Amino acid sequence: MILYKKAESVTEYLIEQKKLGKTIGLVPTMGALHEGHLSLIELSKQNCDITVCSIFVNPTQFNDPKDFEKYPVTVPNDLHLLEAKKCDVVFLPSVSEIYPGGVKAVKHYDLSDLENLLEGKYRPGHFQGVCKVVDRLLNIVKPDKTFLGQKDYQQCMVIQRLINLLELPIELVLGNTIREAKGLAMSSRNSRLGQDDKQKATAIYSALNYIKEHYGEKLPAQLEEDAARFLKSHGFDAVDYVSIVNGTTLKPVNESNSNNKIVALIAAFIGGIRLIDNMVVKP
Ligand code: PAF
Repeated sequence: MILYKKAESVTEYLIEQKKLGKTIGLVPTMGALHEGHLSLIELSKQNCDITVCSIFVNPTQFNDPKDFEKYPVTVPNDLHLLEAKKCDVVFLPSVSEIYPGGVKAVKHYDLSDLENLLEGKYRPGHFQGVCKVVDRLLNIVKPDKTFLGQKDYQQCMVIQRLINLLELPIELVLGNTIREAKGLAMSSRNSRLGQDDKQKATAIYSALNYIKEHYGEKLPAQLEEDAARFLKSHGFDAVDYVSIVNGTTLKPVNESNSNNKIVALIAAFIGGIRLIDNMVVKP
């Protein structure tokens, strides 16, 4: 495994590999790696000749500075896990390497309604920050494919839009959400949950399963209400949203008879930690 800290050096190396006919897969991460990330590394290794994992806690995507400060940083362990998975290249840049013009440099992406709905409504500016860093990483690595976890469903839709906007010849491949034994979606934030809250947090998975099971029998608004009530009665302190939406536009669906892909998404707080999860209700 080769470790690069400088953008120029990793670009140079990967351009040489491309000249040799090798395909490149990028798994962008913010570190604190878990099974979800490692499954993306595996997916990339199955699809591409060279797998690059970037580890960078991106300051521009945190709308809450306290959340940024508390974000878990576990680089030695991350490197150990990546080595064990036989990841080929790790890119571990500094802030100035990613943002040579400073983090405040203005760049705006036209993400349409995608950036104001759901996460966008509760985390203003978040997706602009995600696009800034992903744009830069795609530019540095120039991958053939990039791999993202479906757990961050809206982020996947946003990055697909970014790729389309920039007309990049890159395929976005989505990896399945990896869950713990009782259904809690793997997330770097789970490490901040106490044992009791971690147990209670599985209610998100139950709520999503409930929606999937009853979709078509009850109106979406009723299912959303039932699920939010269930979360609150099972230990969640607050629910930002339970939304049943069109899987492409992420706009709410009002009737159960839509022919489109339907996804249910949840964001809720437990023990002061904000968790998100989703489930495809109708493919
Ligand atoms: O999903 C994440 O970990 C981040 O949002 C990403 C895509 C690595 C950009 O910082």
